[in-house]
Amino acid sequence: MKFIITGGKPLAGTVVVRGAKNAATKMMVAALLSSEPVDLENFPFIGDTDITAELCKTFGAQVSYDRAAGRARVVTPSITNVEALHLTRRNRIPILALGPLLARAGEAIVPMVGGDKIGPRPVDLHLNALRALGAQIEERADRYEASAPRGLFGARIDFKFPSVGATENALLAGVLARGVTTITNAALEPEVVDLIKLLQKMGAIIGFGSGRTIRIEGVPSLHGARHHILPDRNEAVSFGVLGVAAGGPVRVKGAVQGHLMTFLNTIRKIGGQYDVEDDGIIFSGATALKAVEVETEAHPGFMTDWQQPISVLLTQARGDSVVHETIYEDRFGYANDLNAMGAQMTTSSKCLGELPCRFHGMDFKHSAVIHGPTPLRGATMRVRDLRSGMAHVIAALLANGTSVIEGVEEIDRGYENLDERLRALGAAISRQE
Ligand code: EPU
Repeated sequence: MKFIITGGKPLAGTVVVRGAKNAATKMMVAALLSSEPVDLENFPFIGDTDITAELCKTFGAQVSYDRAAGRARVVTPSITNVEALHLTRRNRIPILALGPLLARAGEAIVPMVGGDKIGPRPVDLHLNALRALGAQIEERADRYEASAPRGLFGARIDFKFPSVGATENALLAGVLARGVTTITNAALEPEVVDLIKLLQKMGAIIGFGSGRTIRIEGVPSLHGARHHILPDRNEAVSFGVLGVAAGGPVRVKGAVQGHLMTFLNTIRKIGGQYDVEDDGIIFSGATALKAVEVETEAHPGFMTDWQQPISVLLTQARGDSVVHETIYEDRFGYANDLNAMGAQMTTSSKCLGELPCRFHGMDFKHSAVIHGPTPLRGATMRVRDLRSGMAHVIAALLANGTSVIEGVEEIDRGYENLDERLRALGAAISRQE
């Protein structure tokens, strides 16, 4: 599947942000913790929620959709199967099912996780957390085999890095564990907090301590709940960048200021315009954009998933911008593609920033200098991963001429009907087999 995009059209209008991919998938897994229905509103109908529905159904869940109302229901009267090996390397969600399966069935076999190719992406923190709670886990070539015949027990979990997935894993395992679980150096991304809100509605007892601490008091069982999924921050940023780069105004309905503070600060420093409204944010362009320095960080810092759209915007800014990626080792693969379109983006294994970075002194090209402004021209590209695929789309929309973007199934994993929504803003984009 490919997108054909003819760039250079002014983009303006209103676009509605869907529910967050990186919350919806975790909430579907959270539904496995209860025998009662969990209703998820503002549900994104995307590739990753399809894969997660398949995962949940494998374990005995029934998943039903009301597409018109944007709602999904996941109900798991009982766990009928504890193994999901056919879903190997499709995305990163299966490992999160270990906690719910151990709590309800005492055993679980999940495949090695996949997801975007943006670095080695180990799962040591996930496994250490579950082991601390009493799970026995064998790592095989293609799978993790876990058991907890006596159940899980509350424990102290101290993360060396505030991993989003490992924090979610500890939450999903800790809620039904006996006793108190304390997570220190936890990830506190809005998607993690939204998962905690759903778990609280289901009957869990979870609180926040000073610093990055989460305290869970285990309960014997959880019940059903209804939850409105928070809006997708990555969609909001992608459309916001388009509003700034392609004239605008683009009204990003559903974008939440409190989730986007560092992005909005960066847009202001670049010279883009935005207005915060009650139910969204309006983005529009400026006559001259300025170079800036950006470093990705755990929340509330500048998110790693915003690095790609902002880098495309920086190709249109005057001067030398510096981008330091401190979360993933290998997230600048798309620089070659932008350079083929006329950008001047040079990557480096040096830490070009102020933050102490885990990749210091290693051979990972995790910093970039972008010299701008450079006009972009259309090109043929293949999507490397979800977020850099969106960078391709944004660059193609800004470029002179026509671009062909192949492999858009990756983009469909995270963005619902992207082509249709961009056409509504005035983009010349079509989809072909
Ligand atoms: N890490 C470890 N050990 C672990 C877990 C993580 O070393 O056990 C390292 C990773 O290798 C990485 C860093 O910690 O260098 C951050 O990983 P984290 O666990 O925080 O990320 P994740 O849970 O795998 C989620 C999102 C990503 C998003 C990151 C950061 C999902 C499914 N994925 O990944 O989203 O970039 O948090 O916010 O929630 C995307 O949507 O395109 C995407 C990649």
